[in-house]
Amino acid sequence: MAEVAKPAQTPAPGDWQAWQESWDRQQEWYMPDREERFRVMLDTVEALIGPEPVVLDLACGTGSITERVLRRLPGARCTGVDLDPALLTIARGHFAGEKRVEFVTADLTDPGWREALPHRSYDAVLTATALHWLDTEPLRVLYGQIGQVLRDGGVFLNADHMTDESAPRINAAAQSFGQARKDRELAAGAVDWAAWWGQVVESPELAEPARRRFELFGDPRVPGDHTRRDRPTTVQWHLDTLRASGFAEARQVWCSPSDAVVAALR
Ligand SMILES: C[S@@+](CC[C@H](N)C(=O)[O-])C[C@H]1O[C@@H](n2cnc3c(N)ncnc32)[C@H](O)[C@@H]1O
Repeated sequence: MAEVAKPAQTPAPGDWQAWQESWDRQQEWYMPDREERFRVMLDTVEALIGPEPVVLDLACGTGSITERVLRRLPGARCTGVDLDPALLTIARGHFAGEKRVEFVTADLTDPGWREALPHRSYDAVLTATALHWLDTEPLRVLYGQIGQVLRDGGVFLNADHMTDESAPRINAAAQSFGQARKDRELAAGAVDWAAWWGQVVESPELAEPARRRFELFGDPRVPGDHTRRDRPTTVQWHLDTLRASGFAEARQVWCSPSDAVVAALR
């Protein structure tokens, strides 16, 4: 079980390591098992690909997946793709001088997003807590494109909010149990999404990219700003869509009451 959060401080200007860690703490408030999800993703990559994968970190944010890939598999190379100027500023600052890593700015709903990638094909495409931002049809298209980015035998792993809607009372109980934990941690000083962006926009080196981010995605400090109406919610949708997109195999490799990791083999 995650420890109760201590009151969080705004990182000092230019302390990219501290920004990276503050992003991780904020995400862990939503997903106390986030690190476990990453471990399962990396176990699956190592099992299927080996110790030196060429990895695409899709919707990379600050590069949390890339960080864990390099820590565990030092022979790996990673490309991070995202659209958010503020998160990419943190990522580029944090990985400055790291020759195994490149970052690309692209919108995954743009048909040309693959054109800027530095590698023709990848051994593994990994993504976490991101594709629920896409509506059903753009995500279906993206799954087809991911199949084209992977080499034969390559693996796709998506860790995200996905449920089993056949058990509504279990889901409701788990949801209210999780909300009580979040409330306790918030009272103890945890930083949520809106408060974290409040810190970002107050930071001299991040204020300008944050404002550009607000123009692209909306202002996260405004309640209800970040909502999507038509998005897939079940593990089954992801498995069915991956198989229909041409993946040879697709299965769930981890789950909690609210989240799952699905793996698909090209
Ligand atoms: C909650 S963050 C997760 C980031 C990272 N994967 C992690 O686990 O820390 C979701 C990410 O998806 C990115 N994203 C959402 N829609 C996108 C799009 N259409 N194109 C590129 N990135 C997108 C956001 O910018 C954000 O960085």
